[in-house]
Amino acid sequence: MKRISIFIAALALLASCQRPVPQAFSVIPYPNEVNLTEGTYNVKGTAIAVDPAMDEASKAAVQRFVSALETATGVKTKQADGGIAFVRNASLAPEQYVLDIQPKAVRVEASALNGFVYACETLKQMLPPAIYGSSKAQCDWVLPCGRIEDQPRFAYRGMHLDPSRHFWSIEETKRYLDVMATYKLNRFHWHLTDDQGWRMEVKAYPRLTEVGAWRNGTVVKKDWSSNDGIRYGGFYTREQMKEIVGYAAERGITVIPEIDLPGHMVAALTAYPELGCTGGPYEVWTRWGVAKDILCAGNDQVFTFLEGVLKEVMEIFPSEYIHIGGDECFGGDAEPNRPDPWDVCPKCAARMRQLGIKKGPQAKHLLQNYVTDRVQKYLNDNGRKIIGWDEVLEGNLTPGATVMSWRGVKGGIEAANKGFDAIMTPNSYMYFDYYQSKERDKEPFAIGGFLPVENVYSYEPFEGLTPEAQPHILGVQANLWTEYIATPEHLEYMLLPRMCALSEIQWCNADRKDFARFNGSLDHTFFMLDAMGVNYCKDVRGLIGLEYQPARTPEELEQYLKDNPRSW
Ligand code: ACM
Ligand code: ZN
Repeated sequence: MKRISIFIAALALLASCQRPVPQAFSVIPYPNEVNLTEGTYNVKGTAIAVDPAMDEASKAAVQRFVSALETATGVKTKQADGGIAFVRNASLAPEQYVLDIQPKAVRVEASALNGFVYACETLKQMLPPAIYGSSKAQCDWVLPCGRIEDQPRFAYRGMHLDPSRHFWSIEETKRYLDVMATYKLNRFHWHLTDDQGWRMEVKAYPRLTEVGAWRNGTVVKKDWSSNDGIRYGGFYTREQMKEIVGYAAERGITVIPEIDLPGHMVAALTAYPELGCTGGPYEVWTRWGVAKDILCAGNDQVFTFLEGVLKEVMEIFPSEYIHIGGDECFGGDAEPNRPDPWDVCPKCAARMRQLGIKKGPQAKHLLQNYVTDRVQKYLNDNGRKIIGWDEVLEGNLTPGATVMSWRGVKGGIEAANKGFDAIMTPNSYMYFDYYQSKERDKEPFAIGGFLPVENVYSYEPFEGLTPEAQPHILGVQANLWTEYIATPEHLEYMLLPRMCALSEIQWCNADRKDFARFNGSLDHTFFMLDAMGVNYCKDVRGLIGLEYQPARTPEELEQYLKDNPRSW
């Protein structure tokens, strides 16, 4: 009898050591199938086995995870069976992964790099946030047991960055990519050219960066007559851009470069004034807004120039898609009384005659169609496809183009109805240069608008689309224009946590989205970002403004890691 009661007491003790099934789970984006069970797996000093059938890039992604684990736990792992096994399962889709976590072993399955990258990101988010830090931390280094089967809703999960209005160094750009990878984004739209600075080295046209990469000062806020008097600029060399392409690729991210044409070209026109309708002179813009001067559509030299630039773009960027811009070509706001150059240029008039374009409100759109089509043919002949801002849809867009819907959702809906692929990036939900709070005086100065994280989260990309048109929606992207953003702290404040909300729109099936659950997960994500040294906005916690940074003191972070080290 006594022996039986000791046995029962021992069982009870064992059961109490067993962790109950977790009630919360703070991984962002939330996996599409999560089944947590009792118990945990201890990762400190774990054995790691990597399937020899995995490709080298997937092995390298696993190695980055292992290095983070060793740094944060302070204990080396062992290369052996019987711990965490990374296994190639060719039956899974390229971005799919499966985690099977048992008390004594973990199995991670994927078929390709992206699946392994996302499996590792999910594992990291299930560990204490110190896994994102750069030093050893005393935490409870365990994973919850359970099974996760996960894959994204949309294939195109993009984030844009504007290095033209303000320039972001290679290191800052890599941090941006790190954050994107953390939330399983896979397309980086790099807006390399604009009126205020040309940022891409082009060997055939050296003046683009000698002249076009520099501006004589910058307007102060929205006082268009002002200039801070500080010469500003910078550009990326071919090697630096290739470095970014490689760094992104290791994290499952494709870089999509944008050469914005035929508008937003004042920096290029300053370098090569013969490419404009008037012949200049032009000056790299020091203010924001929409410029009147654009590339001349009647001058064949312009197409020689564009093909020369795009040839080098293709040498550096292996992406299937090249973004050719196409936005805001007409009606520039800086010189309201001046006609659009295409309306008065003899060369453009001759081109319109040659094409049989009649005078009238459609004429300029049809001429823009001609420019888009010529560039599209050149890229298609070289095995690439174009993406254009939704203005390219006006008039007659050539089949095969993909439309990026930014002036609300209507361009994307119209494109999909007409059989074009589309990427949804409506300014009403996806412009992260907008204010996050209504208390503007507490926020850093912004372009305008109001886009708190709840509004971002509420976006449903299929709204307004018929079932037949829905497959044309390749995915969703947010844009971060940087007219009023000059420092990395401010950039990250605008990016996060709105990009976390974006990631759930891109990744989660519609029935998996839940703002209350997401909002509850943000505390964990904030500590992750703290550990990464990345800034973010805390307006969802009632703290508005950059002065709340650094987000936490090192002591607060250490205390949190001791008190509350888990995401589940
Ligand atoms: C844009 O915001 N002009 C695409
Ligand atoms: Zn012209």
